[in-house]
Amino acid sequence: MPGQKLVIEGGKSLSGEIKVQGAKNSSLPILAASLLCSGESVLRNCPMLSDVYASCRILNRLGCKCRAENNTVIVDSSSADKAEIPDEMMREMRSSIIFMGALLGRFGYCSLSYPGGCELGPRPIDMHLDALRKMGASVNDEFGIIRCRAEKGLHGTKISLKYPSVGATENIMLAAVLAKGETIIFNAAREPEIIDLGMYLNKCGAVVKGTGGSTIVIEGRERLHGCIHNIMPDRIAAATYIAAVAATRGEINILNFDAAFAESFLPVFEQMGCDVYVYDGNIYVGARKPLKGVGKIITMPHPGFPTDAQAVVMAVLCRAKGSSIFEETIFESRYRHVNALVKMGADIKTAGKAAVIEGVRKMYGAKVEATDLRGGAAMAVAALGAEGITEVSELRYIDRGYESIENVLTSLGASVKRV
Ligand code: EPZ
Repeated sequence: MPGQKLVIEGGKSLSGEIKVQGAKNSSLPILAASLLCSGESVLRNCPMLSDVYASCRILNRLGCKCRAENNTVIVDSSSADKAEIPDEMMREMRSSIIFMGALLGRFGYCSLSYPGGCELGPRPIDMHLDALRKMGASVNDEFGIIRCRAEKGLHGTKISLKYPSVGATENIMLAAVLAKGETIIFNAAREPEIIDLGMYLNKCGAVVKGTGGSTIVIEGRERLHGCIHNIMPDRIAAATYIAAVAATRGEINILNFDAAFAESFLPVFEQMGCDVYVYDGNIYVGARKPLKGVGKIITMPHPGFPTDAQAVVMAVLCRAKGSSIFEETIFESRYRHVNALVKMGADIKTAGKAAVIEGVRKMYGAKVEATDLRGGAAMAVAALGAEGITEVSELRYIDRGYESIENVLTSLGASVKRV
């Protein structure tokens, strides 16, 4: 809804237990993958986010029957019969490029616009296009419209990525599962969401091996059927709510959450001085002691520290004793939340990829505008630990990645209202 904002009264120590929403960055590629199946897929634990609804609209536009209701998405792609996605639908969703591999895999042709840059900076897709060309597609990228055609269908091949791109790895996997022969991806992305995508595809009859590692092998099949799949929990949402608790010196239990999904960021909370316990499939984080700076954090591809957690962890470090330094190596402009944090009293200096945070004792409520998905969440985290009232506007960014963030925070004892 345009014009909505969160009104947050800071100063309350959060505590409680939550089950984390399904992962946005797993549900989106799996929704695209469902296009490859001649049958019905039932996706459970799907987060109800604007990007998920946008994906369902695209699938329906392509001739699938897709509907989303209370965290379940049912999509039957047997009647899919179109391979063009109109510009206005592509613009609705940042990661719509993930449909390219699936459309090519299913129809041997696709035409979609590519909006290009976003709040995080340019989002080039050279690795996606180069890989599809190597698999036999002709790709014309003119005036923002990408037309791909594989006259004789796609064939398997060996692809070495110059960088372990998550989106490129996913697009290649989706193009390869119905291609002729074997595709090997070297230097593939290792994110847990890639493992979840591979599990979904294998349940549909694909043969995908090696996900989670740097080499993924896909054996092309004739056709895929549907399946029932539980989307993995959202590790960045988990990091966000842990940050909210750390920023307010509280404690949280994240229920039914495999700690392996959090291994890339939990150690940073421990370095700050949080108590972290993993027990019977849950994670406990307590921040009853004063927190301290953590020295240098470099954002890296998985299993390194995730760029998506940088903003919310920074929001906690603003009030940790001592200094912390981020080096953001993944995206060009991922410090757009810094101005808002400084407006709330933080001491942060940025120069290029680096951001230096000197902990301050207090931060103060202010009127701020979300700049992007995780930046907006970082402002909410800082607001919870600040004195006074903060208003975070431009909620559309936050709603792209968090399912009713105000309800989750309220369940932990926060004073948050969406107006
Ligand atoms: C995915 O984006 C996530 N999005 C991002 O999450 C996440 O930040 C990112 O992976 C890194 O983990 C989804 O999964 C929907 P990349 P993606 O391809 O696939 C460059 C969030 O907040 N690159 O690994 O776009 C690119 O410019 C979002 O949930 C090329 O140069 O990430 C970037 O600098 C934000 N050429 C870097 O690689 C290419 O062909 C990483 O991009 C492709 C990428």
